Amino acid sequence: MNSEYGQHISVLLQESLDYLLGKISPEDSSVKYFADLTFGRGGHSLALSQRNSSIQLICLDQDPEAIENGKAMIAEKNLSTRITLHHANFRNFKKIVETNHLEIMQGHGGFDGILIDLGVSSHQFDTGERGFSFRFDGPLDMRMNPDDGGELNSFSTAAELIKNSTQEDLTKIFFEYGEEKFAKRIAQKICEERKVREIKTTNDLEEIIFHCYPKAMRHEKIHPATRVFQALRIAVNHELEIIEEMIPILAQMLCVGGRLAIISFHSLEDRIVKHSMRNLEKNEEIGRVLTKKPIIPSNEEILRNSRARSAKMRVLERL
Ligand SMILES: C[S@@+](CC[C@H](N)C(=O)[O-])C[C@H]1O[C@@H](n2cnc3c(N)ncnc32)[C@H](O)[C@@H]1O
Repeated sequence: MNSEYGQHISVLLQESLDYLLGKISPEDSSVKYFADLTFGRGGHSLALSQRNSSIQLICLDQDPEAIENGKAMIAEKNLSTRITLHHANFRNFKKIVETNHLEIMQGHGGFDGILIDLGVSSHQFDTGERGFSFRFDGPLDMRMNPDDGGELNSFSTAAELIKNSTQEDLTKIFFEYGEEKFAKRIAQKICEERKVREIKTTNDLEEIIFHCYPKAMRHEKIHPATRVFQALRIAVNHELEIIEEMIPILAQMLCVGGRLAIISFHSLEDRIVKHSMRNLEKNEEIGRVLTKKPIIPSNEEILRNSRARSAKMRVLERL
């Protein structure tokens, strides 16, 4: 395993495994297929593979560093016959399965469980050169897949977005994806600044945002740049569009009784998950929502891992 790859504590670990496995007992020896579409540090996948030794896992991550670390970990733990890791955006999951694992859809009737644990990993957040955080000075990148090579998206970096978007578009991004109340003022300031210098680094942007905040609000618990950085990350990686597009497709890829569990970290994501799952239950009638209220972490988990505090999990079972 790559020692450079930072720690990441898996969120809602027991709860997600309990829901995904449902009635499957540890002794059940028939082969089962699960997918982890956001492998990250592999915490959920590893725990899932340990719960039942007949589980086969197809895993994806769009981050090349997560893949490099994951491949080493899988080899080190002798799991290469049970865990297959693909470097891809989960937007391409169906194509990947049809090309490489068609027997799961045709022979087995689909996946027994699919997990999505959205958002950034602690490694991404804590690596200054990736540009996700204003805590470190680094290039304003924020792409989860910096070498997408034009895959189907060729996402722009945050710096390119800042450079090329109109003031109206920036305002909309900051307001809608960050719920930033000074969205308009920050977008205006960015547009003034970019006429005289390039806004290239996390520090450049953090400084602009900081000074757009009224003095009395600059040193509150939540740093002024938090919401704009979150908004840019969501925009750069097309996070909301992809999750909305994929939920109905993933539901169709489950076998009867198979479960889709999605862990999200902010209200916009959760709203999409909630509405999409409800639509599959009420209108499409192909699934049943198992979580009438979202599953949230215990106080104990939040004390252990503050990143868990905003997590919500919803689960759909295929009919
Ligand atoms: C919160 S971490 C997952 C942590 C993992 N469950 C664990 O326990 O170690 C989220 C991961 O999902 C990946 N990711 C986010 N959106 C993705 C997408 N659309 N396609 C593929 N991977 C994605 C990120 O690169 C990141 O590594």
